[in-house]
Amino acid sequence: MKSIVIYASRYGNTRRLAESIAEALHTRGEVELLPADEAHGIVTTGANLLVIGGPTEVHAMTPSVVQLFSSIERGSLRDMPAAAFDTRIRAARWLSGSAASGIARKLRRAGAKLIVGEESFFVAGRANPSTGESPELEPGELERANTWAASLADIVETSSPRVPGKTV
Ligand SMILES: Cc1cc2nc3c(=O)[nH]c(=O)nc-3n(C[C@H](O)[C@H](O)[C@H](O)COP(=O)(O)O)c2cc1C
Repeated sequence: MKSIVIYASRYGNTRRLAESIAEALHTRGEVELLPADEAHGIVTTGANLLVIGGPTEVHAMTPSVVQLFSSIERGSLRDMPAAAFDTRIRAARWLSGSAASGIARKLRRAGAKLIVGEESFFVAGRANPSTGESPELEPGELERANTWAASLADIVETSSPRVPGKTV
């Protein structure tokens, strides 16, 4: 199985989650782990799973994620199994916003097939008021990301291969 994991991260939390996700997927096969800024024009041919994640800022995706999707044409990820995640504060989604919702919407627009609902991982508390810096991840979130990624791999591995013109 070949997976591609793309992430954006300003303060390192989403990067650490992406690394944990990549580590879990690496136990099932080949993994490419890339920051969003370096993923423009990425070729997904041959990949079985595409995972994209980023921080929630001002209730939405950060500019580097938005830019990444502006480089992905509508329909160009046709039928690519995919999953979206974000980091955000632990609050009702309508209050915090969720980058993962935006990522999932963009993935669908590009033709990808979301194999699970979008997932959020949480930082503990709010940004430091004097520096604006992000709080750390809540304890256990890296492990939860690892388990989440393993469940994605299970779904991909157990889904039937699609053979043109033939029911399998
Ligand atoms: C400028 C800024 C705005 C933020 N806005 C939100 C927000 O609207 N909703 C939310 O849940 N978290 C918000 N956060 C918290 C971030 O989601 C959290 O710091 C981020 O997920 C950390 O990811 P990173 O370390 O990968 O940058 C904000 C953080 C910053 C620094």
